Amino acid sequence: MRLTVEGLTAGYGSVNALCDVNLEVETGEMVAVIGSNGAGKSTVLNCICGVVPASEGRICLDGIDMLDEPPHKIAMMGIAQVPEGRRVFPRLTVLENLEMGAYIVRDKRALMERFDFVYQLFPRLAERKKQNAGDLSGGEQQMLVIARAIMRKPRFLLLDEPSLGLAPVVVESIFDIIASLVNSSDAGIIVVEQNAAMALSIANRGYVLENGRITIAAPAKELMNDKRVKAAYIGG
Ligand SMILES: Nc1ncnc2c1ncn2[C@@H]1O[C@H](COP(=O)(O)OP(=O)(O)O)[C@@H](O)[C@H]1O
Ligand SMILES: [Mg+2]
Repeated sequence: MRLTVEGLTAGYGSVNALCDVNLEVETGEMVAVIGSNGAGKSTVLNCICGVVPASEGRICLDGIDMLDEPPHKIAMMGIAQVPEGRRVFPRLTVLENLEMGAYIVRDKRALMERFDFVYQLFPRLAERKKQNAGDLSGGEQQMLVIARAIMRKPRFLLLDEPSLGLAPVVVESIFDIIASLVNSSDAGIIVVEQNAAMALSIANRGYVLENGRITIAAPAKELMNDKRVKAAYIGG
């Protein structure tokens, strides 16, 4: 399947946040959208999820426009977002948080399979399944919100700055897991990041978003070696 964003323009009142944004991702592929704070990265993801309305453009799943669908319908179509800020349910256990991600799954066996899948992906969560989510470290909470989204078995997973505020070694282990997810599931992933080096190191393709516009679109390896990208986002 293919998720395509075409000519997306959006804003908040008189603030223009996105202008003519084009991007696409296929299942089994990971793309990174890199950009600095305020570039419009979260707005792109929020438009795809139907949380922020677009003023122009199309967002299609295999050619079917879903721009005017409400957020719950878009979720039902297989799109799951992990928003910025790692919002877990702090007083619920890890297990209960994961159950919330799969509340729609009635079949016991299917549910167990999903638990097995995420626990295999995130052994740390399996070890801590009885603990309250509020007692986890920041990195573990980030793993939990990603795992909770995966419990829904999305066809497309949208990750909003998973590295924010985490130590480099923790970021590395989370990105390793995201990379293995691309290989082990058929989901397509869009990760938006200020940490360009990390995101591009595991993505297939990348986009640079500046002031609400895509300025460069290229294979991730090419972007990593691009002089402008190095100077602005990688430092050197
Ligand atoms: N709820 C909002 N109301 C008004 N302006 C907003 C709102 N959310 C974001 N913006 C503005 O839209 C632009 C893009 O923001 P955002 O998508 O959050 O960027 P990023 O995620 O790349 O940091 C910024 O100028 C930001 O100030
Ligand atoms: Mg953001």
